[in-house]
Amino acid sequence: MYLEYNNSKMKFVCLVLLSVSSFVLGLSAAEKKTAPPTVITSPTAQADLPQNISEANLFAQVCANCHGKKGEGSEALKAPSIAGLPSWYVETQIDKFRSDLRGTNPEDPAGQIMHNIITAIDASQITGLAKIIAAMPMHPTQNVLGGDAQKGNEVFMEICAKCHRFNGKGEVVFGSAPLIGLQDWYIRSQLYKFRKGIRGGNPADEKGHKMHEMTQYLSDEQAADVTAYIALLAKKYANTKSRREREFDEMRKKEKQKAARQNALPEELRK
Ligand code: HEC
Ligand code: HEC
Repeated sequence: MYLEYNNSKMKFVCLVLLSVSSFVLGLSAAEKKTAPPTVITSPTAQADLPQNISEANLFAQVCANCHGKKGEGSEALKAPSIAGLPSWYVETQIDKFRSDLRGTNPEDPAGQIMHNIITAIDASQITGLAKIIAAMPMHPTQNVLGGDAQKGNEVFMEICAKCHRFNGKGEVVFGSAPLIGLQDWYIRSQLYKFRKGIRGGNPADEKGHKMHEMTQYLSDEQAADVTAYIALLAKKYANTKSRREREFDEMRKKEKQKAARQNALPEELRK
């Protein structure tokens, strides 16, 4: 049994590495303008994922291969830094991958990889995975690729802030993602995908479709500038909590203390 499990895990890791390396090779070929990126399809992934392991082990053995042990992401593998993304956002996105609203477009090999992995995960483990990711300290966006943050400031305040908030931390009510823990190459890549409709092109993906509409007139230069501005926001806000977040933490703490007091009571006195 144990051997069998190890074997299937090995098979999975090989499969991931194989997909990833052909993906990376595909990309470098595209950069040389010789061939389009390789489309990854791994029809056997479903059967080869490790089963019956804890969410923490699942993260370490599967997700960390691409997203890193600390959820810091990997540009080479096109995997975003997911550390600190709130669990509601992680669950929504996983839901989209699983319901074919994200990661099924043939022009989106990175999305397809994620789609193939996550559709093979047991649904009951998703909430646990999302909690693990949300608890990881965020890796603030850095401005590596350049871009004019000052010009980006204007774009952000005019277009983005109303949904992603002035601090780039996102808003659960609008379903808008926090942006200040994502790498700059990933933010740009998603803006291009939204613009082309490779992500959010399907009106059934209501929230993604909003981003598709918002990016229709966004130039490459504006995308670069606004990303540079997001890195500035990250410096300021990634490791600070807003009043609302502090109030939420305080509420959670009180709830936990109350539950602990209840549990300390003899059974017949508990409410
Ligand atoms: C083979 C590499 C690979 C593995 C393994 C992998 N991912 Fe991903 N993941 C990606 C890539 C690439 C993307 C970016 C897709 C895109 O560009 O749209 C991604 C995107 C995501 C996103 C969306 C992030 C966002 O900001 O919208 C989440 C959430 C996520 N992965 C969670 C997970 C979890 C949880 C696991 C483990 C069960 C996992 N991933 C395993 C490659 C991987
Ligand atoms: C009308 C509201 C709205 C506006 C305006 C808006 N966004 Fe979004 N954005 C969203 C929503 C909702 C999502 C989540 C989409 C999904 O569920 O796939 C999102 C997702 C994103 C993502 C993907 C994040 C990830 O983790 O993959 C990026 C990047 C992003 N927005 C950047 C921007 C930028 C930059 C602007 C301004 C130019 C902007 N958005 C304007 C609502 C908005």
